[in-house]
Amino acid sequence: MAGQIPQRFIDDLLARVDVVEVVGERVQLKKAGRNYSGLCPFHQEKTPSFTVSADKQFYHCFGCGAHGTALRFLMEYDKLRFPEAVEQLAARLGLEVPREGDDDPRAQARERKRQEGVNLLELSASFFRERLKMSEGQQAREYLSRRGLSEEVQRDFGIGYAPDDWEALKRHLSARGVAEAVQVEYGLLVQREESGRTYDRFRDRVMFPIRDVRGRTIAFGGRVLGDAKPKYLNSPETPVFHKGRELYGLFEARQANPRLERLVIVEGYMDVVALAQFGIRNAVATLGTSTSEEHLGRLFRMVDEVVFCFDGDRAGRQAASRALETVLPQMIDGRTARFLFLPEGEDPDTLVRREGPEAFENRITCASPLSEFLFDQAARGRDLARVEERERFASQVLKAVARLPQGMLKTVLLGELARRTGVDQSRFDALLASEQEAASPAAEPSQAPVAAASAPSVAEEKPRKEGAALGLMARVLQLLVHEPTLVERLPAVEEWCPEDGTDALLCRELVRLLRAGRYRSPHVLLAHFQGSAQGERLAALVQREMLIPREARGQELEGLVEYLRRQRQRQSPQEEFEALLAKERGGERLPLEARQRLQELLLELKR
Ligand code: UTP
Ligand code: MN
Repeated sequence: MAGQIPQRFIDDLLARVDVVEVVGERVQLKKAGRNYSGLCPFHQEKTPSFTVSADKQFYHCFGCGAHGTALRFLMEYDKLRFPEAVEQLAARLGLEVPREGDDDPRAQARERKRQEGVNLLELSASFFRERLKMSEGQQAREYLSRRGLSEEVQRDFGIGYAPDDWEALKRHLSARGVAEAVQVEYGLLVQREESGRTYDRFRDRVMFPIRDVRGRTIAFGGRVLGDAKPKYLNSPETPVFHKGRELYGLFEARQANPRLERLVIVEGYMDVVALAQFGIRNAVATLGTSTSEEHLGRLFRMVDEVVFCFDGDRAGRQAASRALETVLPQMIDGRTARFLFLPEGEDPDTLVRREGPEAFENRITCASPLSEFLFDQAARGRDLARVEERERFASQVLKAVARLPQGMLKTVLLGELARRTGVDQSRFDALLASEQEAASPAAEPSQAPVAAASAPSVAEEKPRKEGAALGLMARVLQLLVHEPTLVERLPAVEEWCPEDGTDALLCRELVRLLRAGRYRSPHVLLAHFQGSAQGERLAALVQREMLIPREARGQELEGLVEYLRRQRQRQSPQEEFEALLAKERGGERLPLEARQRLQELLLELKR
């Protein structure tokens, strides 16, 4: 009897398959905004109420209530038992299903078969590693050390060397009973069309194994030692390798830190390993392609923050625009995407060597948030003092905003757009509604007013207004839940926290708990409040996008609390004004509320 399938494997499986793909093979789906929709396969219907969400990796039918993951779908649709559904999903990825204490010979035979490809690649990887150590690997070893890679990093990434020989790997694998046809299938041998003769694909190259999330080699990239072309050679598409889906370095990054929070996307193999050499072990590279939705889907299932890294030249900016397009629809609350531009002529490899890891980390820390990049890009080459240019600016931003899912980021961006163009935000809402309708015909008819269908006119300029997103107390709560340890920086709660209002009371309770020292992570905190209205409130807050980089959250919180403290102590307007002014003059960057308050006070005092 086969044993239990380990939960870890199931989690991994669900992280790797795409529910849209699985459902899409059986139900005709149409893209409808962010999701996909179609006729529900589980009940009779004429209009589609069945939706599949790529972000949540869930399907849901509003008609009959059917819902679940890719696994559940297979079970219901193909009428499979749970282990069969797992088998089926695993087979898509060329994975064997591990069993606790499995000893069924037939299952083993099946698994052996499935493992064949993966084993073959593992066998090749260790062949390359061994060759690097032997005398024929001398030049490759010198090359690697010239590029500053220690043996430790070489080992962590399993780097090897493919000898300068047309049949070295072929002989090695054939001697171990691997059929040539299989070697060709997995991209290790190339077969000539005319003669049918086969030879090693990778020769005289430094070999980088590309591994799947579980660490199994699924393909290779090989670099020449000199200036020959092509510089890098990659495995072709094979049953286990799909270039547009895999990322180099993902397994290694997770190995180095199982609790990753952020991943940096770079261009090349060498960038990933060079950064690792300097202790920056969270870089991954796409394999000579631009970042795809699939890449991002996979990354965002592992971390909440991705930082794209680009060359500072024109090509880099173009790549960044493409990345922006790809990432926009995936920016649900709680996720962060940032854009890092390197100085011209540098890549992460050269830069980290020249500047050192701290400087590079600082660049990552200071990378532009998506919002900033979006505005910069739209403003590029435009004279925003001119009305028409401002209109074009606004419509470019709106086009992007229309592709965002509902949530904090959208709200904030609209507010910011209103601020920058001096156009009232309500004008954008209407425009946005029509953009979105155009983008997703299947979506429900919008409730927005039909009036403003043209670009916002600056003639209607109104006093500037900030899009009020979250209340003060809510923002304090949000910061505290995200970063519980910040509580240590706060003055006594009586000094600043109001005694009425739901958020204020919740905040008092939260601070008390945190001070008691038992809760140090958002998850545990949420668990404490689970099932109460307070718990719901906190969960809602924690799911919102935090537009403030982690490093700046402490300061933001202190700023907010300080502002609350002043309010609570009811200074005279004059005192409050002077205190705020002194801060601002002292070079401190005041939080938004404080700046607004400063203006209010100024007007009040003038009167
Ligand atoms: P680059 O040409 O920027 O190389 O290619 P690099 O990463 O700086 O490499 P070094 O420092 O010269 O060793 C970036 C990525 O594009 C793909 C590879 O994935 C490479 O890492 N590429 C590049 C190829 O697939 N084939 C090529 O011939 C060149
Ligand atoms: Mn390079």
